[in-house]
Amino acid sequence: MQILKNSIGDDLELADTLVENAVGYFQLPFSIAPGITINSKKYPLIPLVIEETSVVAGLCKNILFANSNGTIVASQSGRGFIGQVHFPDLIHPEIFKNYILNCRENLITQANQNPCANMFQRGGGVFDITFRIIPRPDGKTMGIVHVLLDSKNAMGANIINQTCEYLRPLIENACGEKALLSILSNYNTEKLTKVELTLEGVDADLANRIAEASMIAQCDTYRAVTHNKGIMNGMDAVCLATGNDWRALEAGMHAFAAHNGSYIGLSKWTAYGQQLKGTLEGPINVGIVGGVTNIHPMASLALRCLSVESSTELAYVMGAIGLIQNFAALRALVTDGIAKGHMRLHLKNLLKQAHATPLEQKKALKLLEKILDTKHYVSASDAHNVLKELRS
Ligand code: MEV
Repeated sequence: MQILKNSIGDDLELADTLVENAVGYFQLPFSIAPGITINSKKYPLIPLVIEETSVVAGLCKNILFANSNGTIVASQSGRGFIGQVHFPDLIHPEIFKNYILNCRENLITQANQNPCANMFQRGGGVFDITFRIIPRPDGKTMGIVHVLLDSKNAMGANIINQTCEYLRPLIENACGEKALLSILSNYNTEKLTKVELTLEGVDADLANRIAEASMIAQCDTYRAVTHNKGIMNGMDAVCLATGNDWRALEAGMHAFAAHNGSYIGLSKWTAYGQQLKGTLEGPINVGIVGGVTNIHPMASLALRCLSVESSTELAYVMGAIGLIQNFAALRALVTDGIAKGHMRLHLKNLLKQAHATPLEQKKALKLLEKILDTKHYVSASDAHNVLKELRS
């Protein structure tokens, strides 16, 4: 009860507003990394929420490297967020097709005059409606309507879901077909963000090793998943700090990693002597208004730190941070290995797990560092042994 009470701090109102059955808060560290420059615009401070040791340290070190040796260029293609209305068992696929083709304009107008009226006034709203016809394994035919919505600076989940639910009965009544469900798609191929980091003056051997490491992730799914996990370490940390939906981001990015038929690395690195070029592309669907972004005080603070002026700029920052985080991981992996730096920073966690007092921690840390330097590996039992020794 005391732990829950302490976690609540000032009040429980925000948690109670956000979710149901809230009884406390679960804290994660909020860190700041140095700013980055994208398309010649400076984003002064990068807010990160992550619990994993060495992610922030690796990122900070390599942001400084990228700032002094590189340039970041980012772009976004498309502006749509996909919402779907699913008709699993079409009676007349041809009539359905013709109806969508003929009534497309009318459906767009209805959506923009009703659920999307405010969004439409701000320059967004529904701008296209398409469909896909998919044969089912049992011989039946499925129809899927795609509603494309520009949600401007909002992530847009609520508006797209409401719009699809609004359009669903209109389509059902007009073409006599029955829909089963309607929901947004987190696989948003209609708005892709691309980030390119060009680093100059990189040791040619290192550049080549990083390019080779990225090639492995282009060929082997087992490696690609871990490669991409490293990218998401950075992207998720900014996503979470800014109050965005990191599960949606994860789902979309991982699906995109398989868009060519097999799951591969989301980033590619190419070496040209001392120049190393990294690219990353994916559906980075995020917002700077709506959702939790403006009601969570830490998310608002994070957005102020970043000084992004649009959801597109936030997507650029997330992509760039993912790419630099990936560079940090590959750089460590192809040189010292990941464990050396990570375990050095993880020693404090081992001591905490072994219930070291703050005073013991200082002394024990030095002893554990020595063990790591001589053996090149360290474990929880080393922390226990060191403490035992100190206490005796
Ligand atoms: C660990 O959180 C992330 C890495 O495994 C990423 C990678 O292997 O590229 C180091």
